Amino acid sequence: MKAQSISAALLAGVATCAAESFRAIPTLSPSVDNGENILPTIMNSSAIDPQTVCPGYKLMHMRQTKSGVDARLYLAGKACNIYGSDIDQLQLRVQYQTRDRLSVQIYPANIPDGQESWYKVDDDQIARPLDRMPVGPTGSDWEFSYVENPFSFTIKRKSTGDIVFSTKDTKLVFENQFVEWKTSLPSNSNIYGLGDIISANFELKNTNRTIYAADIGDAPEANLYGAHPFYLDHRYVKVNGATKGYAHGVYSRNFHGQDILVREGGITWRTIGGSIDLFFFSGPTPAKVTQSYVSEIGKPAMQQYWTFGFHQCRWGYANISELDNVVKSYQRFEIPMETIWSDIDYMDQYRDFTVDENTYPQVEFKAWLDDLHKEHLHYIPIVDAAIYITNPSNSSESYPTYDRGHELDVFMKNPDGSEYIGAVWPGYTVFPDWSAPNVQKWWDEEYISWHKEVPFDGIWLDMNEVSSFCVGSCGSGKINMNPVHPPFKLPGEKGSVIYSYPEGFNLTNSTEAAAAAAASKAQDDANNAQNPPSTVTTPYYQIPAVTPNVRNINHPPYAINHAQGNHDLAVHAVSPNATHHDGTSDYDVHSLWGALEIRASFETLLKVFPGKRPFLLARSTGPGSGKYAAHWGGDNGSTFYYMRKSIQQALNFGLFGIPFFGVDTCGFGGNSDLELCSRWMQLSAFFTFYRNHNILSANSQEAYVWADVATAAKTAMSIRYSLLPYFYTLMYHAHKTGSTVLRALSWEFPDDENLINTDSQFMVGPGLMVVPALDQGVTNVTGYFPTDGNTVWYDWYTGAATFSDGKNHTVDAPLGHIPVFIRGGYVLPLQKPALTTYQARKNPFEVIVALDKSGKATGNVYIDDGESHNVKDALFVAFRATKNSVWFNGVSIGNLDKLKSYLTNVASVYVLGVETKPSAVKLSGSQNCDFEYDTQHKKLTIKLPSSFVYSKGQKEITW
Ligand code: GLC
Repeated sequence: MKAQSISAALLAGVATCAAESFRAIPTLSPSVDNGENILPTIMNSSAIDPQTVCPGYKLMHMRQTKSGVDARLYLAGKACNIYGSDIDQLQLRVQYQTRDRLSVQIYPANIPDGQESWYKVDDDQIARPLDRMPVGPTGSDWEFSYVENPFSFTIKRKSTGDIVFSTKDTKLVFENQFVEWKTSLPSNSNIYGLGDIISANFELKNTNRTIYAADIGDAPEANLYGAHPFYLDHRYVKVNGATKGYAHGVYSRNFHGQDILVREGGITWRTIGGSIDLFFFSGPTPAKVTQSYVSEIGKPAMQQYWTFGFHQCRWGYANISELDNVVKSYQRFEIPMETIWSDIDYMDQYRDFTVDENTYPQVEFKAWLDDLHKEHLHYIPIVDAAIYITNPSNSSESYPTYDRGHELDVFMKNPDGSEYIGAVWPGYTVFPDWSAPNVQKWWDEEYISWHKEVPFDGIWLDMNEVSSFCVGSCGSGKINMNPVHPPFKLPGEKGSVIYSYPEGFNLTNSTEAAAAAAASKAQDDANNAQNPPSTVTTPYYQIPAVTPNVRNINHPPYAINHAQGNHDLAVHAVSPNATHHDGTSDYDVHSLWGALEIRASFETLLKVFPGKRPFLLARSTGPGSGKYAAHWGGDNGSTFYYMRKSIQQALNFGLFGIPFFGVDTCGFGGNSDLELCSRWMQLSAFFTFYRNHNILSANSQEAYVWADVATAAKTAMSIRYSLLPYFYTLMYHAHKTGSTVLRALSWEFPDDENLINTDSQFMVGPGLMVVPALDQGVTNVTGYFPTDGNTVWYDWYTGAATFSDGKNHTVDAPLGHIPVFIRGGYVLPLQKPALTTYQARKNPFEVIVALDKSGKATGNVYIDDGESHNVKDALFVAFRATKNSVWFNGVSIGNLDKLKSYLTNVASVYVLGVETKPSAVKLSGSQNCDFEYDTQHKKLTIKLPSSFVYSKGQKEITW
């Protein structure tokens, strides 16, 4: 059965004349999205192992360069031409780029004209870490060594003596449609990353990681929307009886479809094109590895302050009054809500840059948005990747966005030069080509003029894998039929009613669950009767033999384990032969479409909002996308399973340099329920990006729908909104240094081997740990409380010290309560919460000083206007606490008067872990402060005078 996007999967089955509930237009047959039934090579037991038949390469002509070595590699025997044509000569280039970064490149050399049938990633499209000031072998922490024949190489980290990567005793296979290299791994290696994939375990053991951008819903273990060929390897060794963790990172800068086979003893890398372009980051802490990697691909965009507020979205807000009702309901129930979103419902027949005059009449809509802005709330609409193509035979139809794009020649082409026409929500569509000379101009102008009518605050980029609901240019010659309905039923259409509920719904709501199960069965039976499931098994498509020096891009000889459809690259996506203005085929750049759209859209938003930080949320991403955009975890389901996996997704995207991350809270596909939504609204409150989103026609799941969810959401939101200065400061650090915001425990406690697979709890920055209940029906949760010897954990709610012994403990987690702990040694900046971030910024600040075992703590807070792209005025205050004092040390840029409205007073300081009641608390050594001491919880609350504000210079509070 073909995997589709969740929306499609939920509806799987036949497309009927579904138009009755949609619009009176022809429906595409589901068969348009079928493709061939391909057998992935790794599942083909008769597939030949290239290692057994290929000759490998021989190294010659090695010479020293300024930064390392160059050499030639010659095919060491008869070409095997196994999954492509062997390349005779390769160039090897090794660069010791910085102390902690080594680059190893292998790419074809001396290719005769006309035979350059391979593609190397364009440095302008995906930045290549540069060799700016090479340190050479002596200044590097890396050592590259090699064997001449057959060529292999080994990478050692000098400081630890660790062999991190070795192709020894294997052969390099380099063909025009297939490149394979194999590396060994020691048994203490733990691999993370290689996405975009949701997997059984956080740490990757014996797993296949296929990378190829796909619109596939959040199918477990499948290649999802983005391409992130980067891994973190965290190894533990015994040093003098103690365990020590060392990490390094490997970035394989190749974006062709690829299988990365992770096994106990090593990794096999197989890609269907491109070059070998490896970067090694020496760490040796996990934090240092990510920081180095992310700094090279592009440090994360700084987000506007309001984007940290809560976002409400759904597919199916049918008109302005529904949107209005959602906003008002949040206000009525006093649940914070910052931003309301529109899915494709607002558009005129799902066409980008339009509004539906019947349901979202432009004038009324603009007035409504203006009012929303007066309340300091925000609005974000979706923009899909595909552009409806005007039907030339319908004179009453007008879609200037397409006409202008066509005029400027900005769309992808067929190999014959005609426009490539796929199908997405609006019907037959074309796709912007980010290499077309006029594309940026066209994209800019569409947004700039549309923003005048629909004053949005940010943009949600969807379907940018780039998705298409049919194989090939299925609309060529057929646009006179436009608009056409997608080749599957939309959620809620007859035969596609949503009856699924979270795990355990039958235990909490047995009558409703039984009725839903019966209705679901009846629907399946009716669908099957109308269109019996096929019993014919389609034979596997036999991939044609290799033709020398000719690439078969539609069906490459090596079939990656692409999870979509029947593994055909052309299914549910623009097909490999779609062609770009720069001459490249989708085959070579497929997984970069999303990243390029993101970058172009960032440039556009800088023009729409001069001087302000653009806000973009995107589904398909690549290395460096975090520099421009936030990401959400895609089409998850309303299940406890997906809630649990959201943590793994967030951690992985931290590794990939996209720390502004969230998932569809309460779940996208399927109906949610009270328990799941309550847990999830609380969990997501600790993610950087916090949005509730739902599929068309599923039961409503806004936080106010269930009283208990409203209460739970308010509880967690009041913590989140208190922590806004902390979140914002963490984001600032990520933006400046490439650090992460949500963190795996193993990154913060790198020497603790017990944490290898921990992704059921997480850290927010260095100072906060969240231990959420993730299973249905539980009232407590077991969490691990790591220690570095000096650690003390404090309960968020009481401020009392709790388990701090590096062991598992069970803590209470009744519905409505999310266990959160503060890590001693850290100072957290807070501000009194409110219903909007605008109001919250007017409230007084507070500070939590959580002392570690030695009575120390540090932290900081960053304050600016929350929106400027180029920040001119900012204040950074560092906190340093000892047993009896805390110092505030402020440094600033620009004019602090301009930040006056944000520099409200610091009302209180809470010191956790104060052993005895102090006799006095003094400000700057003299002025007495009011204070309270809670003997039971050993918590000191200091009330500061109303004149106490964050400022430049030093301030000291002693007790
Ligand atoms: C895609 C998106 C989803 C959106 C839907 C309709 O499935 O991932 O978030 O609601 O399209 O636009």
